[in-house]
Amino acid sequence: MRFIICGAGGLGSVIGGMLARAGEDVTLVGRPRHMDAIRANGLRITGIYGDFVVREHLTCVTHPDQATGNFDLMILLTKAKDTETALAEAASLKDRVRMVCSLQNGIGKEQRLRDWAGRDKVIGASTIEGGVLLEPGHVMAGLTTPTTAYFGELDGGVTPRIEAVVAAFQNAGFGTKAVPDIRQVLWEKLMQIGTASGWSVSTLGLPLTFPDGLEVREGAVNYILLARDFLKVYKAMGYAPQNFYAPMGQFREYDSLPFDAAVDLMMQLGRRFRQRMQASGETEGRTSMHQDLHRRRKMEVDVILKPYLDKAAELGVDVPVLRYVYGVAKVQDAALAD
Ligand SMILES: NC(=O)c1ccc[n+]([C@@H]2O[C@H](COP(=O)([O-])OP(=O)(O)OC[C@H]3O[C@@H](n4cnc5c(N)ncnc54)[C@H](OP(=O)(O)O)[C@@H]3O)[C@@H](O)[C@H]2O)c1
Repeated sequence: MRFIICGAGGLGSVIGGMLARAGEDVTLVGRPRHMDAIRANGLRITGIYGDFVVREHLTCVTHPDQATGNFDLMILLTKAKDTETALAEAASLKDRVRMVCSLQNGIGKEQRLRDWAGRDKVIGASTIEGGVLLEPGHVMAGLTTPTTAYFGELDGGVTPRIEAVVAAFQNAGFGTKAVPDIRQVLWEKLMQIGTASGWSVSTLGLPLTFPDGLEVREGAVNYILLARDFLKVYKAMGYAPQNFYAPMGQFREYDSLPFDAAVDLMMQLGRRFRQRMQASGETEGRTSMHQDLHRRRKMEVDVILKPYLDKAAELGVDVPVLRYVYGVAKVQDAALAD
């Protein structure tokens, strides 16, 4: 298939690089320093998949107008704050892409794509795969789960075009599934990343990593307190947790286990995370939002935490921990540069 990835930074480069390595034709649209470095030396990917350089099947451009031909799938992967600019710049692609999706975090991104590309081109997509841009031309793949990506038709169901995308992702080494209700995956993913990011920003602050916070029991307590506020809203929406991204999100257990047992489970996850970081040489161990705080860049606070607060207000659910964490994140964010 032919893929074009608009906003090839940390995650976009890991996904694009792995697809290209598997023989898919991939065009990355990214910033000049990163694109120049890849053109000169290839794309270096380190971390959980090993240490290798991808050169074949990879085209790098700095504006969508420089991309030639038609594409099967456009994947939007800028940060949310850059979506509008990226879509405006991609106007010339509208008639040249067969399908469009976003692997960004958040709710509402698909509707934005439908407004841009037309209702029928847009497919639903979600991932927990992790990527960090370490330096121009070099990304670290930091996180995956047995099923790391889901695709589905936005109005429900699985079609041959969804199965074709799933097959390409599988072939690239990403455990991927087609699902009949992608909207549930999107809400559960937001619960997972909202818990992980909100907890990181409020509990870990600037210098710490995920396992640092889970090795201290009080840190794991905070995680479960926050997860349970998210769960109250998710269940009020009529959903039951499915653990789409286990073991990173084990919301069934966070919900059903006695409180102390759920805390123990998080502490175990922290130990496993530490072992994995040591084995792969990964040093970051942070969510994308926490990474932004660490680098003193604007965070996706309102994309990642606010949809659940809005739903809680709509459904009359009290979420004091989530409200507190949102307040902490907003204060931190206010001090960060655009
Ligand atoms: N990284 C992860 O582990 C992960 C996992 C799951 C989901 N996500 C989601 O994926 C999205 C991307 O995250 P990320 O961590 O990959 O962000 P990132 O590293 O900042 O990558 C986005 C890249 O797009 C570039 N960009 C922005 N506007 C552009 C434009 N108009 N044309 C070309 N390039 C443009 C950015 O450049 P500048 O930095 O110069 O603006 C940056 O290099 C977010 O919504 C995030 O929540 C991330």
